[in-house]
Amino acid sequence: MAGWKCRPKEFKRLWNYSVGFYGVWVAHVGRRTGLIEAIANRAVESDKLAEQKSLDQKAVRAWCSAAEALGFLKRRGKKVYLPARMKEILLEKKSPLYLGGQFSYLALRSLDYGSLEDLVRTGKTSEMASSFDAIVEATDWDHHAFMSAAKRGRLHKMLSIGCRVLDVGCGTGTFIEKLLQEYPRSSFVGVEPSEAAHRAMEMAAGKSVEIFRQTGEQMAFESEFDLVYLGESLYAASDKPAIASNCFRALKKGGVVAIVEGLLPEKVDDESRLIMGMQLDFALQGFSFMTKKEISSLLKGAGFARVAFTDFGGSLYLVTAEKP
Ligand SMILES: C[S@@+](CC[C@H](N)C(=O)[O-])C[C@H]1O[C@@H](n2cnc3c(N)ncnc32)[C@H](O)[C@@H]1O
Repeated sequence: MAGWKCRPKEFKRLWNYSVGFYGVWVAHVGRRTGLIEAIANRAVESDKLAEQKSLDQKAVRAWCSAAEALGFLKRRGKKVYLPARMKEILLEKKSPLYLGGQFSYLALRSLDYGSLEDLVRTGKTSEMASSFDAIVEATDWDHHAFMSAAKRGRLHKMLSIGCRVLDVGCGTGTFIEKLLQEYPRSSFVGVEPSEAAHRAMEMAAGKSVEIFRQTGEQMAFESEFDLVYLGESLYAASDKPAIASNCFRALKKGGVVAIVEGLLPEKVDDESRLIMGMQLDFALQGFSFMTKKEISSLLKGAGFARVAFTDFGGSLYLVTAEKP
């Protein structure tokens, strides 16, 4: 067998995908069990770490060794610690560098990937069986990215003074919860067709939030909202033009629709390779990503004007448009 140095670059690239697979699980399991958080605060010996967190000593040793080899943590003598930059990437949800939730999404979603073979053989799709946790992990960063983008524009003023917001496909309501904390003068309506609506209703109790269990296609609001938000929900809709025109009707004149969605790139590069791979995940659910052109003509077709794109990175965009 030829040595590593003699391997062609194609071999090395594919080899690294196998290493990356373990990287995803090192990150996810380290976050879930609190190991990453513990070593972010101080250097500690791996056996002590296991004791502190009431975890299995042998397994924690294996995790530390893997995490060190894969470049997550560093060792000082017998102690391991998480460098500051790693802490930001893995734990700080508000940082533009945050990837922790993405790793957990991938790990949790991969529990359903056994059905990918069936999809390819027969075209059989399957609904997201993995818990809401995967979605919450994936969208946390979207919410913070939206809120920091909103702060730079007129939405911040609208929300601060107090406006009426509709969240279409609100899931468990975590975005409304974050917005309400930041903008207590605004009031919120969430629309969600799945079981997640119950969790959103629990969150809404006693707050200026109403949740309806229905699809975006079924909404009948009229000239009621200043802002309509769709956070990674438009892709899942079976009748996108119907949702777009329901959002248009729901807005007051001058109101804004804000859509956060992954959009297919025109050209594949290192940053967009993830969404290209994620097409498999979406195909399994029976969905596909839109392009900038498709979402733009969808919005214009519903009557919206001034369609604008803000690049959140990693092929995730904030798309805004106005009701003239
Ligand atoms: C990836 S989750 C995003 C949840 C939430 N917007 C967030 O940012 O946390 C997509 C959500 O869209 C919802 N959804 C799917 N089809 C929909 C439709 N036709 N109308 C409204 N929501 C829909 C799903 O049930 C799911 O809760």
